Amino acid sequence: MTMQSRRAFIEATAAGIAGALVARSIPAARAQSTDAKLEILVNEPIGTIQPDIYSHFVEHLGGVVYDGIWVGEGSSIPNVGGIRKALVDKLKTIKPAVIRWPGGCFADSYDWRDGIGAPANRPRRTDFWADTRPSQNRATTDGPQRFDPNRFGTNEFIRFCRLAGAAPYIAANVRSLPARDLYQWIEYCNAPAGSTTMSDLRAAGGDRDPFNVQYWGVGNEPWGCGGNFTPEEYATEFRRYTAWVPKFGVPVKFIAAGPNGGDREWTTRFFRALTARGAGALNGVYGWALHYYAGSTGDRNAVQFTTDDWYDMLARADRMESLVTQHWASMAESDPAHKVKLIVDEWGAWHAGAADMPANYLWAYPGSLRDALVAGLTLDTFNRHADKIVMANVAQLVNTIHSLFLAREDQFTVTPNFHVFAMYADHQGGQSVRTVFSAPTIGFSRDGRAQALWGLAGSASLRDGTLTVTVVNPHATDARNCAITLKGGTVRDVRATVLSSTDLRAHNSFDRPDALAPRDETVSVRSGSVQYRFAPASVTRLRMQL
Ligand code: AHR
Repeated sequence: MTMQSRRAFIEATAAGIAGALVARSIPAARAQSTDAKLEILVNEPIGTIQPDIYSHFVEHLGGVVYDGIWVGEGSSIPNVGGIRKALVDKLKTIKPAVIRWPGGCFADSYDWRDGIGAPANRPRRTDFWADTRPSQNRATTDGPQRFDPNRFGTNEFIRFCRLAGAAPYIAANVRSLPARDLYQWIEYCNAPAGSTTMSDLRAAGGDRDPFNVQYWGVGNEPWGCGGNFTPEEYATEFRRYTAWVPKFGVPVKFIAAGPNGGDREWTTRFFRALTARGAGALNGVYGWALHYYAGSTGDRNAVQFTTDDWYDMLARADRMESLVTQHWASMAESDPAHKVKLIVDEWGAWHAGAADMPANYLWAYPGSLRDALVAGLTLDTFNRHADKIVMANVAQLVNTIHSLFLAREDQFTVTPNFHVFAMYADHQGGQSVRTVFSAPTIGFSRDGRAQALWGLAGSASLRDGTLTVTVVNPHATDARNCAITLKGGTVRDVRATVLSSTDLRAHNSFDRPDALAPRDETVSVRSGSVQYRFAPASVTRLRMQL
């Protein structure tokens, strides 16, 4: 397709979107014929999809660390040195690239020295989240979720990363510890065995070999819980904390704490202030970390919602697309060469906690098919911006917010989000290529106002002759019969994997851990072209052999 005819195709698509704004859904009869198109421009590369886009986040919040990950060495729950075995076993399968720890807001009240040395001597400290009430206002009880025993510290975190096959990313405390603690924590982690008092301390904790931690976050949400800084103040702190740290041959990468959602001013002013003494300061920043949560409206229950709530949540999650492009544009004002890349180190859909989880396990819920679509469309957004995004960490791994797992004592289940990460793992390290989708737009209502959401969206990547195509059909009831064509390649074989249900609220539970799981489908290929029916309310992966 020439650039001109492609533009015509896109304009026709856009016209179709505008024209469909008022339509709530297309009639079921129309779903039998082709009503959508997907053109995959294999010869238009965007960039390599960094495996780190498929990363995770673990905070000392509610039941994430204590019970979620750490069950204790003496526990009857199967564990590897105190770490929940079922979690490690499942996590490994989805190739987790990086795990961020210890927060979140917790990071800026955490003293890393509390979490090292003999476990019996470690102090108990009030957790940042100790006074947070669950949304149902149920009574919380004392316990490790409120008063942290520091049983899970740096050495345990690194062991967890090693078991899972992930790289560690440590968020340092800028609000309540001096810069010295950042460089001594780095020394504790990375100094060669026997070289310093810090490396001796590490060895005394059972780890002679250095941890070689590359990723270091300089605070967390400094515009809020991380210190209520102005962007200018934070830029000064960032320069100071990163002015010198010991390297030990490890390529230390500093991550600066970026904006809350659409706060472009935080981005613009930070970069201006950072570079006020010269553009060289940009060399000291590996990534600029955005946080964005798609909170639900009205009924905030994770698994009870209306069809309008369904669309509303998906549309809110889709805001990630404009957040990425807008912050990227703001960064360019002071960093036109884009030395600094984007990171999204907290993202997900945030609902109220489930009533059958302990009150201390803040925002612990099983997640539904709706959350799976949020995961799919968000990961697709990151893939499409592979030239800008170097890491993304879903919030969080287990027992809170957009979690992939739910654990309570000896009970454990994967959530629908886990399945999406499993389906999307093929994208890691692939070459993201351009896609053009065309499908009728969906209309819905938010607070009585008409809204619109696209009809199909996704991403595609090429690696070793396999084209991985992932697609979200957000329509609650209608399938999309899609004509898929490739430019720059010929399809020989296609296999489909689909996560979908006729029940939008479908979710897994401890009793029914496989209630929602992906299914495989075969797809016929005729003369190199593919006609595929994307199920309603679905996330689909197509594995195409070229
Ligand atoms: O993920 C929960 C919290 O959300 C994190 O601690 C904080 O960074 C964000 O506001």
